Amino acid sequence: MSSTPTFDELRGRALDAAAPGRYGAGAAIACDRLVRIFRADRIEVQALQGLDLVVDQGDLVALVGASGSGKSTLLNILAGLDLPSAGGATVAGCDLLTMTAKERLRYRREVVGFVWQQTARNLLPFLTAAQNVALPLQLAHGRRAKAHLSRVGELLDALGIGDLADRLPAELSGGQQQRVAIAVAMANRPAVLLADEPTGELDSETGAGIFEAFRTVNRELGATVVIVTHDPMVAGEVRRTVAVRDGRTSSEVLRRTVVDEHGEESVSEREYVMLDRTGRVQLPAKFLQALGMEHRVAVDLAQDHIEVRPDDHAR
Ligand SMILES: Nc1ncnc2c1ncn2[C@@H]1O[C@H](COP(=O)(O)OP(=O)(O)OP(=O)(O)O)[C@@H](O)[C@H]1O
Ligand SMILES: [Mg+2]
Repeated sequence: MSSTPTFDELRGRALDAAAPGRYGAGAAIACDRLVRIFRADRIEVQALQGLDLVVDQGDLVALVGASGSGKSTLLNILAGLDLPSAGGATVAGCDLLTMTAKERLRYRREVVGFVWQQTARNLLPFLTAAQNVALPLQLAHGRRAKAHLSRVGELLDALGIGDLADRLPAELSGGQQQRVAIAVAMANRPAVLLADEPTGELDSETGAGIFEAFRTVNRELGATVVIVTHDPMVAGEVRRTVAVRDGRTSSEVLRRTVVDEHGEESVSEREYVMLDRTGRVQLPAKFLQALGMEHRVAVDLAQDHIEVRPDDHAR
């Protein structure tokens, strides 16, 4: 059995992972050609097929994509609940592939927080809201937890549910339960908060409120947040939306606020496609269809861009 690493060893690994020049150096999340193959009834499903993703510290990112594209598979790996078949992933300097069982437990308790879609799955039904938030503190600190319990009230207040501390989950609405779930996930100050369709069971107005709660956590508590969502409102409100297609990141939209000469603010949006580390790009299907491009395209280097044209030799 391997012995528990010392603090210096752990710090050494974290510094190593953040070393300049290394892929995703210093990022909160770096996935490097992640592959996850499931085998069921002798059928193989390639849920992730070489997925690359880098998320900067402090970012708030939405992950979108068709059903079955691999979003939950990715989140489960990042949460330390599942292991990839190949590829690499680091979160907050922790290498998800080489962690020992003990490190993995600590990772799940203290480095990442998780909010599920099913409101009932996030909370223990026989504990009050405050007791649910206190539980991860007690698990992490044992007998010394008392010194940390002031955090329970602070978190519930920050999420606008300070007055509901003594209610059981069954006495809360779905939206209130999800706020408590965010407080539970943030109890041990994780570096990264992951959420798999956290607004999926809520109506759109309540969902918008929950999304605001994620924003609060991102802005005021400094957590890096990744939210899987089908909700176009959520996807449209974040700085960065990454689309997953067939187990790979395929395109992303970046938004920034621009101020014109009259001081008017507006949001400018730009769509990008991913350039993987071997130089592959996935061109948007609608562009290819518009120009009838298939099988082979002509590529030319211009001074400051690359031109991609229909195959003119075929004519
Ligand atoms: N435990 C498993 N065993 C076998 N196949 C699985 C398992 N988990 C996921 N898959 C398969 O992997 C693929 C990706 O699934 P995943 O749950 O990651 O999709 P998703 O993007 O989260 O979809 P949705 O939007 O419907 O939640 C699917 O084809 C799914 O059937
Ligand atoms: Mg899913």
